[in-house]
Amino acid sequence: MNKKINQEPVVIVLFGASGDLSARKVIPALYNLHIGGFLPEEYSIVGVARSELSDVLLRQRLHDGVNKFSRRGIAGEQEWASFAEHVHYIQADYDDPELYERLINIGDPAWEKPPNIIFYLATPPNLFTVVIEQLGKIPVLRGDLRYRIVIEKPFGHDLESARALNKDLLQVFEEQQIYRIDHYLGKETVQNILAFRFGNAIWEPLWNRNFIDHVQITVAEKIGIGQRGRYYDSAGALRDMIQNHLMQLLCLIAMEAPSAFTADEIRNKKVDVMNAIRLITKAEVPAYAVRGQYGQGSVDGKQVQSYREEKDVGKASNTETFAALKLFVDNWRWQGVPFYLRTGKCMPGRVSEISLQFRPVPHHPFSHLNTQVFQPNRLVIQIEPNEGVVLRTQAKEPGLGMQLKPVDMMYCYQDVFHQPSPDAYETLLVDIMRNDPSLFMRADQVEAAWTVIQPILDVWSETKELNFPNYQAGQWGPSEAENLVARDRKTWLLPISFEPKRGS
Ligand code: BG6
Repeated sequence: MNKKINQEPVVIVLFGASGDLSARKVIPALYNLHIGGFLPEEYSIVGVARSELSDVLLRQRLHDGVNKFSRRGIAGEQEWASFAEHVHYIQADYDDPELYERLINIGDPAWEKPPNIIFYLATPPNLFTVVIEQLGKIPVLRGDLRYRIVIEKPFGHDLESARALNKDLLQVFEEQQIYRIDHYLGKETVQNILAFRFGNAIWEPLWNRNFIDHVQITVAEKIGIGQRGRYYDSAGALRDMIQNHLMQLLCLIAMEAPSAFTADEIRNKKVDVMNAIRLITKAEVPAYAVRGQYGQGSVDGKQVQSYREEKDVGKASNTETFAALKLFVDNWRWQGVPFYLRTGKCMPGRVSEISLQFRPVPHHPFSHLNTQVFQPNRLVIQIEPNEGVVLRTQAKEPGLGMQLKPVDMMYCYQDVFHQPSPDAYETLLVDIMRNDPSLFMRADQVEAAWTVIQPILDVWSETKELNFPNYQAGQWGPSEAENLVARDRKTWLLPISFEPKRGS
């Protein structure tokens, strides 16, 4: 990470400090930043929650989280101790005005100047408005960039609630003070899409409807919903993954070149894409969207229970754990090029990748027999499990005849850069401290994404899916997903498998 660090004192007020997100993501990221020297010398992390804890107990809990979830593995004793002394705890009710009076004056009097204060909402979403309302009673916050607010996803439950949340936020803060997190944007390979597209001149002439047949975006996970049944059963795959992560990936692939690498310019270009996505009417939903729910099956040879048997999930739940969509971006560049998006839990592999499938050659000079394995060119940007890029081309197989065979030109991050990537949360936290919202969602972006999926949400909540469960855990989703692409004479592309050479 070569970002410039903001050396001003900072206090990170972590609402929901005793929760899962803090232990899994936020604190391990802050710990790694501390070790890497990416935090200012004068900083503190003030955990706020309702649980009966103390500084010592909170630190213990977070220590366990770091040992389990930090990309560096078990924390060294000294490293942990030097980090832990920055962590403090306040037990309070989120609607207690006294809490906020205390927070607003927080900081160490010995520090050179008053700290920047980052209010980080890592609470369940139903508590967002309570906190925002209380913060709204502090008039000095608005417009002062010393104060920032970070909101985790889900940002709203639908278009209407997202608009309401934006309205509440914008009454208290100005847009530049608001950081809406989509952690996918902090991933190295996701950021690399901009470098790949706009730092290389060779792609631009090909990056359009004249050469690209269609685009596929797959984010598949092997895991089920674990302990998150209460949240997930009211969300589903469309809200949990497509409205944010997959839509952001689509924007990065489809956007025009920004004229400058600034937060607003990048976000303007992304919003242009969202606004160009053809809206599906409710009547069209079955032709453009497919939902699935996993039944019993096996993943990695292990028996998996059905979604409806998971903890905190309704026995007749109508929630989708798989969603696939076909979208069109109605502009000159992309007219007529389908974008197929799919995501699911309990899939056979953990893979996030974007495939640009190029058109076939216009005429084949090779005889049919020699080109049985012929595949049109394909460019794959893989985010998981390996970070890298693959360009599939055709080559002559060595031998006496003219036999063609697909070969891959590829690079893998690990092999090229020989250094571990920071976790997405590390990148995002540094950006918040530097006051750079490029990798965060602006109000209009979030609302535009909800606008695209709202008709699907409506139809899926109004109609019960009688076929659920319609795919076995360990399969690539229901057969209807195959039909979605088969109707356009296409198939879902198998994820490209490539391994870093590791150390070679
Ligand atoms: C989260 C979703 O936003 O992203 C989870 O709520 C999902 O359901 C996760 O598992 C995937 O993120 P990552 O970084 O593990 O690919």
